[in-house]
Amino acid sequence: MLSFNFTYKAQKILIGGVNVVTTKKIIDMKGKEPIVMITAYDYPTARIASESGVDIILVGDSLGNVVLGYDSTIPVTMEDMLLHIRAVRRGAPDAFIVGDMPFLSYEVSIEKAVENAGLMLKAGANAIKLEGGQEYEETIRRIIAAGIPVMGHLGFTPQSVNLLGGHRVQGKTQESKEKLLKDAKALESAGCFAIVLELVVESVAKEITESINIPTIGIGAGRYCDGQVLVFHDVVGLSTMNFKFAKRYANTYEIMSEAIKNYKNEVKSRTFPTQENIFE
Ligand code: KIV
Repeated sequence: MLSFNFTYKAQKILIGGVNVVTTKKIIDMKGKEPIVMITAYDYPTARIASESGVDIILVGDSLGNVVLGYDSTIPVTMEDMLLHIRAVRRGAPDAFIVGDMPFLSYEVSIEKAVENAGLMLKAGANAIKLEGGQEYEETIRRIIAAGIPVMGHLGFTPQSVNLLGGHRVQGKTQESKEKLLKDAKALESAGCFAIVLELVVESVAKEITESINIPTIGIGAGRYCDGQVLVFHDVVGLSTMNFKFAKRYANTYEIMSEAIKNYKNEVKSRTFPTQENIFE
């Protein structure tokens, strides 16, 4: 007879490997265990993230800056996102993957938003993330009504960089703090299962976290969020940018540069290939 005290892994097996219970698991982690989210953009980064045991992989539109070389996320298209979500799913077949809705994929009409969110699920995402507050309540409700879990994103929202006047920490004034609190409550009541808080004053992020029943996942939002998210390339030191809110746990840029230089030098000096690398 089946026991109801099954583990999360067993739940996944019981329902045929479909991740539908995962949003519930993420909500249940609030106040118990910090949620770890990291971005991934391709097959190898997805494999590494998944095999390291993170809770959520975000295929962020930060891929515009991080892997496509743009200076903002604005140029990222649905096609870019779908290509990268498919690659991440191939690298992380069992992971809970959130696909980021790129600029103009959900703002123009609710119908377009639902359709694009659905395409992300067809490409392999389990949920989508979109930037914005109260103004997207109805859009979020309709996406969720179509069976698509939604993660919110408040604070500094990179797609609005031109409106916000640069990469600015949010929640510094009473007005900004009240708006963030209202937006967080609106996203919760619309049905979001979690909210990313980006570049938010720590005390405000704490107040938001304590005032809602869904998890907050911070990036530059301090120590009191229910989880943290960082960009893969910042964590492994493959990006050369230094952000106050991030932490570099390795310096893969140097490691990779060293490897490529060694390869170049060995070919130039005819020390590679050797007897070991040839076919006879
Ligand atoms: O696109 C992204 O990587 C993000 C994170 C910074 C949360 O939205």
